[in-house]
Amino acid sequence: MREEYQASTYPLHVALIMDGNGRWASQKRRPRFHGHQAGAETLRRIVTVCPSLDIRYLTVFAFSTENWRREPEEVSGLMSLMHLYSNSMIKELKENSVEVVFIGDLTSLDRSLREKLDTLEQETAGGKILTLTVAINYGGRAELTQAVKDIAVGIREGKFSIDEINESLLQRHLMTADLPDPDLIIRTAGDVRISNFLLWQSAYTEFEFVDTLWPDFTPQDFKSILARYPARSRRFGANSRV
Ligand code: FPP
Repeated sequence: MREEYQASTYPLHVALIMDGNGRWASQKRRPRFHGHQAGAETLRRIVTVCPSLDIRYLTVFAFSTENWRREPEEVSGLMSLMHLYSNSMIKELKENSVEVVFIGDLTSLDRSLREKLDTLEQETAGGKILTLTVAINYGGRAELTQAVKDIAVGIREGKFSIDEINESLLQRHLMTADLPDPDLIIRTAGDVRISNFLLWQSAYTEFEFVDTLWPDFTPQDFKSILARYPARSRRFGANSRV
């Protein structure tokens, strides 16, 4: 998979930090939930254009391990949006051959939401046009911690030895084991930081930080960013373009 994307001048895997929903709502003097609703619609529009842009993998940060610190009302609003979208999008996603995968610790979610997300994963499994990975209750540090624990258990059970621990083994224990590393991470709303997203996977990722608030981010903004991508020189630590 790695060879496939190194050879490409176009990003195979794009990841999104969809920031700015709250500020967008405040500007409009509306509750934060209104911003998340508008943000969910933006996501729907971006997913729709991915196939025409030859993006094979789209990964989005919907809820972080730190987002539980928000007001309970906002947290439950976000959860209800995920519920709603899991229902309303299923037909469209299947028709467009979009496979949905969830990463993160879903055990802390309500059982009814977990069941909805399971159904969405099962119903869309095998979709070949786009793999949409949605990170919920996800944090890069938590993911790495879990991978280390799983490897330790594997050693205790005799599945592999300490000498067999290498980058490839660790990668295979991540929640993103089936995905190539992201070629490009886009963060909206002006902050220039990674906020515990895809820490291991982004070692050689390209970044775009844009000021636009996520609900205002358009497919045209997305296309403009992608149009600039081939001009980047990705060296993966080497001294000439690969
Ligand atoms: C960050 O904006 C955004 C989030 C924490 C949630 C992202 C969720 C969505 C786009 C919608 C729901 C997703 C699905 C999968 C249906 P913020 O609230 O931190 O904005 P702020 O920094 O301006 O306060």
